[in-house]
Amino acid sequence: MSFTPQQTAALFSPLQLGAISLKNRIVMAPLTRSRADQLAVPASFAADYYAQRASAGLIITEATQVSYDAMGYCRTPGAHTDEQLSVWTSIADAVHDKGGKIVMQLWHVGRIASRLNTGVARDVVAPSAIQAPGKMYTDAKGMVDHDIPRALETTEIAGIANDFAQAAKNAIAAGFDGVEVHSANGYLLHQFLSSNVNQRTDQYGGSIENRVRMPLEIVEAVVEAVSKDRVGIRISPGHTFNGIEETDAEALYTHYLKRLETYGLAYLHVMRPMMGGMAFDPVTMARGVYAGKMIAASGYDGASGAALIASGGADAVAFGKAYIANPDLAERLATGAELNKPHEATFYTPGEKGYTDYSRLAA
Ligand SMILES: Cc1cc2nc3c(=O)[nH]c(=O)nc-3n(C[C@H](O)[C@H](O)[C@H](O)COP(=O)(O)O)c2cc1C
Repeated sequence: MSFTPQQTAALFSPLQLGAISLKNRIVMAPLTRSRADQLAVPASFAADYYAQRASAGLIITEATQVSYDAMGYCRTPGAHTDEQLSVWTSIADAVHDKGGKIVMQLWHVGRIASRLNTGVARDVVAPSAIQAPGKMYTDAKGMVDHDIPRALETTEIAGIANDFAQAAKNAIAAGFDGVEVHSANGYLLHQFLSSNVNQRTDQYGGSIENRVRMPLEIVEAVVEAVSKDRVGIRISPGHTFNGIEETDAEALYTHYLKRLETYGLAYLHVMRPMMGGMAFDPVTMARGVYAGKMIAASGYDGASGAALIASGGADAVAFGKAYIANPDLAERLATGAELNKPHEATFYTPGEKGYTDYSRLAA
């Protein structure tokens, strides 16, 4: 598929997101690629992968753990040890050398975890001791059930906020332009928001006001650690991935967004559900409720993304699978060139194949 330059023109004006200046409105969506090692140290060739994509206005890294307890899948990177941060520093430098901007997506998987995927002893925690449905891949034993999580004690939540704050400081010290708090896709923050995964009876469960408390405390800790104009947040209202239900999604996110708005963050990143029907469109809903800068993601192509920006529906658009396959996606969208197709079989496999070897347009 390709587009005419006229159809994609709205993607090519600069944009300010807090303290971060974007040269265009094309964002590389966060994409887990599972090239790190069992101690969550990113691969050295990840610097090449990200630098190849530096013509994006902004790169959001793959989801990156704030601690070993926050890790769930195999070979996902962390931002909490010196070895990890030394590679992240080379990644940020490589992107900046090519004129790009990069923020780190910070996550905690909560109950979406198998201990088999972490190279050290660790805990699996969640709002409540309810096992996630479905199975997950491990290098050790193939597909396995998710571990049964332990419910977090009320007093432990401050420690998790502290892990996020420390990882955010680490990312900024490694040279990143900012961080994105992962509050989407059924991971720990989304588990607290949910009406079925969160069965707590303390001040973090039950009412909407209580279910947003933990995610807001995380955001607050990160803002205090690195300043609001370098912090974004990703949400996925109505996304049922990883066994999440939000029976009161519209009321929940209206309240959550109004509270988030008060922090004056660099940006809000709204992901449309990748599956399942929705009673409302989360991008339209969020734009109506939230006054700050907004990135929209999922299912956009060059023409529909530019049309959304031109109509005022979002300030920038993130592209996921198209960025896996097209390191020079921005150049291709600018010129109307054909796009490469992504190879799903190598989305999560170790090594450089299907990672740094997608073709670029001839110079
Ligand atoms: C291989 C793969 C890995 C992903 N990893 C992440 C991730 O680490 N964090 C996240 O928030 N979303 C993740 N997503 C979702 C993408 O950021 C994006 O929202 C999704 O691919 C839909 O956008 P698209 O239609 O442009 O591909 C992932 C998607 C894919 C296909």
